[in-house]
Amino acid sequence: MSAVRIAVLCSGGGTNLQAILDAARAGNLPHGQVVLVVADSREAYALERAKNFNVETAVFDKRDYPRAEREAAILAALKGHEIGLVVLAGFMTVLSPAFVKEYEGRIVNIHPALLPSFGGVGMYGLHVHEAVLARGVKVTGATVHYVTEECDGGPIIAQKAVEVREGDTPEVLQQRVMREAEWIIYPQAIENVCKKLKGERI
Ligand code: GAR
Repeated sequence: MSAVRIAVLCSGGGTNLQAILDAARAGNLPHGQVVLVVADSREAYALERAKNFNVETAVFDKRDYPRAEREAAILAALKGHEIGLVVLAGFMTVLSPAFVKEYEGRIVNIHPALLPSFGGVGMYGLHVHEAVLARGVKVTGATVHYVTEECDGGPIIAQKAVEVREGDTPEVLQQRVMREAEWIIYPQAIENVCKKLKGERI
């Protein structure tokens, strides 16, 4: 049976994309295949990572495409590549309800905290870790979830907790959350979702 065709949408460094590509190369993503990487910035290092793995890339830079046109272009690229699963990996644009509806149940995201805490509009990247440290929680982590119209509010697929340590800076905490949670749970969750989309038990 053919693998689910995956598009990964990124805006920046792409370390989660790297973890997904590494998992695929190691044989840990047998039910999925990353066939397209989309970036909304031409400087996104994720594009280099994709090229290193011979994965096709498409760039719809925020400076060239106003929001609605950008979404339309991304949607057209996804359709053109017969994408079965959309993976958001550090994609810093909230998708419109119409886009989400188009791929209902077939868009996943990773968020760098234990949702429903520290989620919602404005909670992305380092801001999340700043908020976690400001609140003084002792445990944070990462969450993989389905994307719905509600920002960070979709059904949870996987979570992993990570300890907050004395003296953490947002940058140090971000790295720990990535290393101990994100890069581990995201490839696993994607494989499970692909399996499910193929109608297999997980
Ligand atoms: C990751 O920590 C991801 O969880 C976060 O941005 C970072 C992207 O890093 N995503 C969000 O905050 C989404 N709301 P990466 O480009 O190296 O994968």
